[in-house]
Amino acid sequence: MSGLILGIESSCDETAAAVVRGGREVLSSVIASQIAEHAPFGGVVPEIAGRSHLRAVMPTIDQALAAANTRLEDLAAIAVTTRPGLIGSLLVGLSAAKGLAHARGLPLLGVDHIEAHAYAAVMEAPEDAYPNLTLVVSGGHTALYEARSPTQLTRLAETRDDSAGEAFDKVAHLLGLPYPGGPSVSRLAEQGDPRRIRFPRYRTKSGEPDFSFSGLKTAVLYHLRGQDALAATPPPEAIPDRAHVAASFQAAAVDALVGPSLELATRRGLQTLAVVGGVACNLRLRESMRTKADALGIRCLFPSPIYCTDNAAMIAGLGWHLLQAGSTSGLELDASPR
Ligand code: KG4
Ligand code: ZN
Repeated sequence: MSGLILGIESSCDETAAAVVRGGREVLSSVIASQIAEHAPFGGVVPEIAGRSHLRAVMPTIDQALAAANTRLEDLAAIAVTTRPGLIGSLLVGLSAAKGLAHARGLPLLGVDHIEAHAYAAVMEAPEDAYPNLTLVVSGGHTALYEARSPTQLTRLAETRDDSAGEAFDKVAHLLGLPYPGGPSVSRLAEQGDPRRIRFPRYRTKSGEPDFSFSGLKTAVLYHLRGQDALAATPPPEAIPDRAHVAASFQAAAVDALVGPSLELATRRGLQTLAVVGGVACNLRLRESMRTKADALGIRCLFPSPIYCTDNAAMIAGLGWHLLQAGSTSGLELDASPR
């Protein structure tokens, strides 16, 4: 068997295809980003996403196969994201995968997007990545999982409200910074003082480590427009301390991610912590997590930034493990938003 898996990802706003050998060796990873199409609206518009995936999916797959110098008949299977995500977007990738699998008699592998993000840290890591605590921190999710293998994940904690990525995106909007917010907030934050404004760090009442980001977002809002609930949020040019707000918000968000993650890793006796998803690109998060984990003797694994944000290499990589486990599907494979 070739061990070559074609991965297809279309759950949100990137159409992606990749060819990966044996779960690790990335032969190609192509991403058609829709950022420019959604940017004027300040966030992902589901109808635009679906139509854009439809236009991009076959050219992106062709490009990934060509870049890997691979033909469909060389593949062992086709892996595709089936959940969670925008249903109209998921269906585009799934339909393409089904069509190709049916035409070539290839097995289909349905991949969970969150498990694939978690696998991204392992794909590039040494063999002994398990067991680990995985922090999935993206636009759609902020949760901690105990991972025993690529396909055995148990959720231990989850945000009570917003995801960390959403908080970055909303604060960017308040500061008049472009979508997606994470990269633009963190760029502006480099010019500010992270200690200038003391935004709140959420502390759980139950004593169990978990996350919350809505209070932090509201604190930023009140800082910008004062305590008058009816006052309008000032236009970006009228915010004199924008960089300090960005830096102080980022520091609070990083603390709110690092604290509970290390506490849970310690409680569970897990010596490896994987940090994955779009927000794992954040340099201050990487720096703070690594420094504090080192002090506790906990090893940190971060995917390369290109495998933190949505990509299909992580789908193909995890797909190989599903194939090994015999978790293949037929044309009845369905997509689910949750
Ligand atoms: O994993 P991802 O590409 O998509 C989801 O599955 O949600 O994550 C996208 C999220 C967005 O909210 C984006 O603002 C955030 O990741 N992000 C960042 C950074 N780069 C991307 N957040 C903070 N700092 C960054 N450097
Ligand atoms: Zn994602």
